Amino acid sequence: MSKKQTLVIDENTEIKPSKEFSKQARVSSMAQYKRMHKESIEKPHIFWAREAKDLKWQKKWDKVLDWKAPYAEWFKGAKLNVCENAVDRHVEEGRGNKAAIIWEGEPGDKRILTYQQLQREVCRMANVLIARGVKSKDRVLIYMPMVPEATIAMLACARIGAVHSIVFGGFSSESIKDRLEDSKAVAVITADGSWRRGGVVPLKENMDEALKGNDTVKSVIVLKRCENEIKMKKGRDYWWHEETAKVPATHKAKGFSAEHPLFILYTSGSTGKPKGILHTSGGYMVGTYTTCKYIFDMKEDDVYWCTADVGWITGHSYITYGPLLNGVTQVMYEGGPNYPDWGRFWSIIEEYGVTIFYTAPTAIRAFIKAGDKFVDKYDLSSLRLLGTVGEPINPAAWAWYYEKIGGGRCPIVDTWWQTETGAAMISPLPGCTPIKPGTATLPFFGVDVAILDEDGKECKADQPGRLVIRKPWPSMLRTIYGDKKRYRDTYWSDYDGMYTAGDGARKDKKGNIYIVGRLDDVLNVSGHRLGTAEIESALVAHKAVAEAAVVGKPHDIKGQAVVCFVTLKGGVKETDKLKTELRNHIGKVIGAIAKPDEIHFAPGLPKTRSGKIMRRLLKELVATGKITGNVTTLEDTKVIDALQASIAGTA
Ligand code: PRX
Repeated sequence: MSKKQTLVIDENTEIKPSKEFSKQARVSSMAQYKRMHKESIEKPHIFWAREAKDLKWQKKWDKVLDWKAPYAEWFKGAKLNVCENAVDRHVEEGRGNKAAIIWEGEPGDKRILTYQQLQREVCRMANVLIARGVKSKDRVLIYMPMVPEATIAMLACARIGAVHSIVFGGFSSESIKDRLEDSKAVAVITADGSWRRGGVVPLKENMDEALKGNDTVKSVIVLKRCENEIKMKKGRDYWWHEETAKVPATHKAKGFSAEHPLFILYTSGSTGKPKGILHTSGGYMVGTYTTCKYIFDMKEDDVYWCTADVGWITGHSYITYGPLLNGVTQVMYEGGPNYPDWGRFWSIIEEYGVTIFYTAPTAIRAFIKAGDKFVDKYDLSSLRLLGTVGEPINPAAWAWYYEKIGGGRCPIVDTWWQTETGAAMISPLPGCTPIKPGTATLPFFGVDVAILDEDGKECKADQPGRLVIRKPWPSMLRTIYGDKKRYRDTYWSDYDGMYTAGDGARKDKKGNIYIVGRLDDVLNVSGHRLGTAEIESALVAHKAVAEAAVVGKPHDIKGQAVVCFVTLKGGVKETDKLKTELRNHIGKVIGAIAKPDEIHFAPGLPKTRSGKIMRRLLKELVATGKITGNVTTLEDTKVIDALQASIAGTA
């Protein structure tokens, strides 16, 4: 054991970057960070114009920012192509034969795509989409496994100005159907299936179900991945390999305006219907490029690996766009972290010499539980920087990650951000910021963050409040697709001209920001965002259910677990069989990721006299087994005894 590994790490531990790391980093002192941050807030036009110059603009902007709250236009008047910047620019700059994507499939198959090969594949798919009648601003729904073709599909859309909307492969047909309807997609790109823990997820079958009754989708392009039996509908479904064989591997990338829509990504909010978060081109490109450059300290020789799925925002910004915009080599892996065993990630790091590794706290906690023996077999000495995202990281998980994976030498960047923010917002810069377990530390350039109380006053040190962003930033969402009102009401109505993140947070005396968790009815289960209202509406759609309430419960590995309280319709029997049926029903309506951990039958739910479900009581009940909070406003106090008995298993 090295000297460093004997360090006892707890929530008070503060670790400064090593001299070696600082020396080679882009920002190597706190004084430099402060100077740059100040400039980015006070003179955003100067700061962002300088950053944007690294990228290729077919026409330069007239104005860096035009802000009429809550609508921002970044790089107004400019013309650019995001795909050209992520792919062609590197071929032009001599990186054509550099590996862009080193891919490993779950069964062990391997592929390397150079930037030049990526360019050819993207051009082919762009030509296929054009041949199928897809035009600028048309929506294309992508439902794919973690294969290079997922990235190729996204980039091909960006190249022709079409708007991609990815649905995570773990979502069900009904979820796809909702998203198809909301986005009015004209084309779909999917695969026959996807490998997951040795089994096949039937992507095409789910898609066929979702497309029943749909009249907007004209073509479905299907990648052959698992060779599972599927149906192909004549005149609608086309094989990827056949279509791409018919078209040239060249395509000229046209410039689109900086505010041209790039993608819609649906995410959960506090109501039943997921929101289509709309991101546009120029600002998102600059935001993802810049955060990768400074936060991940990306350099020419890095081998970067983000373990997210392209179906989530992390996969959009930190698999497809940010790393490719920086021209690095990245690793992409298709399957589960425990297939064939819990050593899979570490074997990949050893095999490809990964230098920067980005994952979620929930994965780290699962690795700790699986045991060190899966890590000890592998040489992880290529790593130089670690990152986490998606949820607060507890000090024990942080310590294990720092010592066991990072060998006590790699800084950890704990990055706070959201689907809506497009890019990381609060994070250490690895060459200068002292890191501490559990805090995402300080705001990134251009991010003016504050923690406010209900009256809009800034909270004092250590006092929790609401996290807001006071100024626009380049990669911010532009609207909720098709619902400007919801955009204004959800994000911009709490405090004048400020973005409300929906998270509670506190700042310590040094300005380090600790995220306390969501303030709305959004759950964070294994780093996945789920709305309690979505699960409730799935439950009440079942014929046996009269009423349902869903709350989160602290969980050692997942962060939060989903707990449902269900009141059945009169005459329906409370059986374990029905619980299983309800679990599967939620899986069918939303997707396997939403399947609850616990279902409790309750004769009634705690409600106020005006009929509102008192969630705070249910949250307390699932966390502690008891309800001690104020129940005076409760309509019927008898339900409390029944709920407590049901939780204790004595009902
Ligand atoms: O509650 C915060 C949590 O994840 C939410 C955003 O979820 P989503 O849009 O799915 O994006 C996740 C990946 C960017 C936030 O409102 N969250 C995200 N990162 C962190 C975090 N909580 C604590 N620490 C983080 N680093």
